[in-house]
Amino acid sequence: MMYAALRSIGAYAPSKILTNEELSVMVDTSDEWIIKRTGIKERHIAAKDEFTSDMGVSAANIALDRSGINRDEIDMIVCATISPDYFCMPSTATIISHKLDLKNVTAFDISAACTGFVYALSIAKAFIESGMKKNVLIVGAEKLSAITDYTDRGTCILFGDGAGAAVISATKDKSEAIIDIHTGSDGEYADLLMTPNGGSGSAHDSLAQEASSCFMQMKGNETFKVAVRTLTKDVEEILETNNIDSSEIKHFVPHQANLRIIKAVGDALKLKDEQVVLTVEKYGNTSSASIPMAINDVYESGNLKAGELMLLDAFGGGLTWGSALVPFSPLK
Ligand code: ACO
Repeated sequence: MMYAALRSIGAYAPSKILTNEELSVMVDTSDEWIIKRTGIKERHIAAKDEFTSDMGVSAANIALDRSGINRDEIDMIVCATISPDYFCMPSTATIISHKLDLKNVTAFDISAACTGFVYALSIAKAFIESGMKKNVLIVGAEKLSAITDYTDRGTCILFGDGAGAAVISATKDKSEAIIDIHTGSDGEYADLLMTPNGGSGSAHDSLAQEASSCFMQMKGNETFKVAVRTLTKDVEEILETNNIDSSEIKHFVPHQANLRIIKAVGDALKLKDEQVVLTVEKYGNTSSASIPMAINDVYESGNLKAGELMLLDAFGGGLTWGSALVPFSPLK
C-alpha cells in the first residue's frame, strides 16, 4: 500500500501592503471596525503585471527546493484558485508547469474557493494512494484583488493576494502518511458567495452587465453563521472518526477568513491558544492560499517539526468545506 506524505511547504506574499487606514480612505470604514469584526490589519496586493501563476511559481519554487525531491520527478500539478490567470483556459496549473520548466506533467486547476487547498490535498492523496502518481505539487494561489470590488466595504476589507505550495509524495511508511481528509459541499448556499458574471449563466448578456458583477459578492453575515457551524462540525467529525483527541493536535491551521470565526471554532474544540495558527491579521483572507501560507509561517518561525500533527480546516464559496489530519513529514 502506498501512502501520501506532505514533504514540504512554501509560500509567497507580494511586497505591496494595503492597510486598514488606506481602505478607510477608499470606502466608509475604519481601522477599528475592521480589526474588531475581522482581526485583519493589513493584506498584501499583487503588482498589476504580477499574475496568480507568478505567485504560485514563487511559492512552488520554495516548496520544491525544500522537498529534497528532484524536479523531474514531479508528475502532477494541481492548482486551486478562484482567480486564475485566464478565464476558462489555459489553466493556471499549466502556466505554472511551464514557468517551472516541468515537462509532461498532468496539470489542472480546481475551483473550491477557500477550501481549494484541502480539496487539492485530497486529490494528491487519492492519485498517490492509487499508484497513478508519485510526487504531486499542489498550489493554492490567488490574485483576489483582481476580482474584488473596492467600492464594496462588505468585501474589500477582507481579501488579499498570495500563494502557498506543498509537495506531496508517495511513501510506504504509514507513520508519515496523511491520516484522513474530509471534503463536502452544499450548492443550496451557492448565492452566499459568488461572482455572478462571466460564466455560461450570463454569457449572452455579459457585455450588458455591470463590470462589478465580475467581482466577488458575499452575504457576509449569513456566510459567517454557516462557516462557524460547518467548520466546527467538520473537525469534530474528522477527529472522532480517527479517534484523535484535540489535545493531540500540535497545529490547528484553519482557513484565515475572520478571527472571530477561528476563535469560535477553537473554543468549540477546546483548543489552547498555542495550538491555533493565526495569520489573518497580516494577510487577510487569501482564499485557497490561506492554509498553505499559514503552514509556511509556522515552518519559517521554526515551530513546525517533523512528525508534528496538523489539523487543517477550511470553508468557502460553493459552499465547500474540508478538513485534514496531516503530519509534517519532510524527507529525512
Ligand atoms: N466598515 C464599517 N461598517 C461595515 C463594514 C465595514 N467594512 N462592512 C459592513 N459594515 C456594517 C454593515 O453595513 C452593517 O451596518 P448596519 O447594522 O447599519 O446595517 C454592520 O456593519 C454589520 O454588518 P454585518 O454584515 O452584520 O457585519 P459582520 O459582523 O457580519 O461582519 C464580515 C461582516 C466581516 C464580512 C463577516 O460577516 C464575515 O467575516 N463573514 C464570513 C466571511 C467568510 O468566512 N467567507 C467565506 C470564505 S471567503 C471565500 O470563499 C472566497
